[in-house]
Amino acid sequence: MKRKIVAGNWKMNLNYNEAKDLLKKLIEYKDKFDTTTELIICPPTLYLSAFAEVLNGHDWVSLGAQNSYTVDNGAFTGEVSPSQLKSLGIKYGIVGHSERREFFNEDYTLLSKKVKALLHHGLSPIFCCGEQLQVRDSNVYKEFVMKQIEASLFGLKADEIEKVIIAYEPIWAIGTGKTATAEQAQEIHALIRSRISKEFGEKVGANVGIIYGGSCKPDNAKELFAQKDIDGGLIGGASLNADDFLAIANSFE
Ligand code: PGA
Repeated sequence: MKRKIVAGNWKMNLNYNEAKDLLKKLIEYKDKFDTTTELIICPPTLYLSAFAEVLNGHDWVSLGAQNSYTVDNGAFTGEVSPSQLKSLGIKYGIVGHSERREFFNEDYTLLSKKVKALLHHGLSPIFCCGEQLQVRDSNVYKEFVMKQIEASLFGLKADEIEKVIIAYEPIWAIGTGKTATAEQAQEIHALIRSRISKEFGEKVGANVGIIYGGSCKPDNAKELFAQKDIDGGLIGGASLNADDFLAIANSFE
């Protein structure tokens, strides 16, 4: 059966009081969320520890980190490690978001190490891929996205890749209000699934979660999530509003 996954990426938004208010609202809504949806929120790292305490015993939602480093500990000022995240009970970690690739020069090699480090500690990576507008226009977008996947994920074992959630996020659709059409998104999702199946076997391909990101909102989530190979969404802007996040999380048929 198709997985249903909705993850909120709060990015570097909200001060602590605003973030606590948003969490409080989500908790108030907890009985309204479709219980069969794997619900994840990724607040700024700074708030993870307090959120983990508040959500202790809540199994309707999990916490994810927006970023993490490749090693357990050491002299890496400003970084946070998967083992530290694990010690707070964090279950997911975003890797390779286009903003990290672009503004922090994260490359294939680093991303593949980050994925492995998270898996090593039992966290599920939410691995982002996606093309810029000029790549889309030049018509080599399929090869571009496949290269991102192959370069950072194909060194994994089959039982490891099953734990990875792949987020296809066309960069031209992130925060722009411009969403990929359901057909455009489905095309790449299907391609990713078939490539994973070819490399790791049909069962793994069927089980791996592939979600869409890029201006996913309450008014387009239903159509996107109805596509055969779209297992949900990685939500940026709309995850900062509890009503919108709830509506998106309940957009599966
Ligand atoms: P957006 O961001 O929903 O604001 O477009 C998605 C993302 O970057 O994960």
